[in-house]
Amino acid sequence: MGLLVACPLQFGSEGDDVTERPARIVVLVSGSGTNLQALLDAAQDPGWGGQIAAVGSDRDGIEGLVRAQRHGVPTFIEKVNQYADRSDWDLALTKTVASHDPDVIVLAGFMKLVGDRFLRAFPNRVVNTHPALCPAFPGTTGPADALDYGVKVTGATLFVVDEGVDTGPIIAQVVVPVDDDDTVETLHERIKLAERQMLVDNIGRMSREGIRVAGRRVSFSR
Ligand code: GRF
Repeated sequence: MGLLVACPLQFGSEGDDVTERPARIVVLVSGSGTNLQALLDAAQDPGWGGQIAAVGSDRDGIEGLVRAQRHGVPTFIEKVNQYADRSDWDLALTKTVASHDPDVIVLAGFMKLVGDRFLRAFPNRVVNTHPALCPAFPGTTGPADALDYGVKVTGATLFVVDEGVDTGPIIAQVVVPVDDDDTVETLHERIKLAERQMLVDNIGRMSREGIRVAGRRVSFSR
């Protein structure tokens, strides 16, 4: 099982040699990395279809990087304040990620917006997971905003990253109930449980099959 590089999708160009290999996945994190851990664990199974080629962050001292190191996965750090401006950082991040030859780039709790150059370098290959049901409650406080609004269900969304904040074409969503006595923490933990499974299922499928993006509609390709 592996990525069919020559399928007429976003992972390869038509006319490429047909070679099956695991999809190369680069994961970017900024925090505890429980989503990353779920991907690292899933990648132990060759049938899942992907391998974690590298893990990057915009900061040091985070558990996410330690999780990668424990699995022997290469890590890198690109901090915004190492560069003259945001555009230089974006270029550096683009080059570092490209050096790992990724088929899929997963933003898993990555707390920076990637820039235009990054998105242009990896069209339809950058995906993000957001702890709310897009298009509701975008931004960094999705679980708190859902709770404040009083919704009875919320969830998580996996989407293809575009220039907006949590606005890209949706790959998958999972629904989670909101309990009467929820706090932001209990709600976010329940979301994260469902989010991790959604991520593993869909990044695996994306690795095996690829995706097709037509306007806002995303489908798996075979
Ligand atoms: C996830 O809920 C993700 O959707 C949000 O931040 C959380 C990251 O959790 N952007 P972790 O670092 O994977 O534990």
